[in-house]
Amino acid sequence: MSNVLLTGGAGYIGSHTAVALAAAGHRVVVYDNFSNSEPAAVQRLAQVVGAPVVTIEGDVRDTALLQRTLLEQKIDAVIHFAGLKAVGESVLKPIDYYANNVQGAISLLQAMQGAGCKTLVFSSSATVYGDPHYLPIDEAHPTRATSPYGRCKLHIEEILADVSVADPSWRLAALRYFNPVGAHPSGLIGENPNGIPNNLMPFVAQVAVGKLPQLNVFGNDYDTPDGTGVRDYIHVMDLAEGHLAALKFLMQHPGLHTFNLGTGRGYSVLEMIKAFEAASGKPVPYTVAPRRAGDIASCYASVEFSAQTLNWRATRSLKDMCESSWKFQQNI
Ligand code: NAD
Ligand code: UFG
Repeated sequence: MSNVLLTGGAGYIGSHTAVALAAAGHRVVVYDNFSNSEPAAVQRLAQVVGAPVVTIEGDVRDTALLQRTLLEQKIDAVIHFAGLKAVGESVLKPIDYYANNVQGAISLLQAMQGAGCKTLVFSSSATVYGDPHYLPIDEAHPTRATSPYGRCKLHIEEILADVSVADPSWRLAALRYFNPVGAHPSGLIGENPNGIPNNLMPFVAQVAVGKLPQLNVFGNDYDTPDGTGVRDYIHVMDLAEGHLAALKFLMQHPGLHTFNLGTGRGYSVLEMIKAFEAASGKPVPYTVAPRRAGDIASCYASVEFSAQTLNWRATRSLKDMCESSWKFQQNI
């Protein structure tokens, strides 16, 4: 068993990863400033886990508090989820994004160095690949971010590479997530964005439940089988288990390692709507709207490197993704 600190652990992916870690016998400590989550989420998380979850309210840019937490909680490894994540907002507020995300990562690394804790898993994103040159996208695909959000991810990956060169005893993993969706089967935790959702699946769920009147499908003239955008949607519990696999791998392998976490299969917007209608038994009315600026036609992962190296593969179906997301949506 190890003690694992989850920065941003009250958020969507962090809370699901906390469940997977606890189920594997690890002790999790959540560190979050609740800028995009609420303390109640940790209470629901504790209900799922069946035990209280130690939670520290703090900002990752508070290096002193982080370092104290690492030492007091005897942390063996950190998973760094904390950050701002809205692509469109990052274009409007680049300073906030660099300050929160890049400065936050530097502060965390300083605190870890100070506390002598050198094992870190970082939440990166498929957005670092930009417009794909080929599909499926493997880890060797060139990187080119197209938004301040994406550039934050790339800058942080570069910082991790420099840290690893300077001190090869660090154990670092950058996990490039594709499109996480779905929720824990309990329906107690899930994705609950503030305001109108930016992402497809929470939007679809809110239309199905009657909170929003209809979905705008951003473009049906892409070079894809039905003209709508294709993405690699991965069940958040599969993604959560990918973190566990990465931590296990790092125990045996120092250095910086980069992995795609996806399923290897793409679904179109129209396929997602159909699957959600089937899972919920509710109609999801939509209209076709113009393309969204910055969107690409298709994006899906090559998962061979992750499968071979981490001995991990996503197993949950699109049906599981939609059913669990619907269950959570009805609970909130
Ligand atoms: P989320 O917003 O649900 O969770 C992030 C958590 O971090 C929130 O609880 C928020 O309160 C906290 N936080 C933000 N800034 C903080 C700070 N300065 N100090 C302390 N806590 C802070 O987001 P999520 O979907 O769970 O994403 C987690 C990570 O995964 C992010 O780094 C995100 O960029 C990355 N990611 C997400 C997706 C996705 O589609 N959800 C895709 C690729 C990568
Ligand atoms: N879409 C719609 N209508 C909506 C929302 C989305 O048609 O209301 C479409 C998009 O055009 C796209 C697909 O649904 O074709 C998926 O869009 P999302 O916004 O759900 O996801 P993205 O692939 O654009 O981006 C997400 C995260 C990024 C992350 C990336 C990783 O928002 O932070 O996945 O692949 F980097």
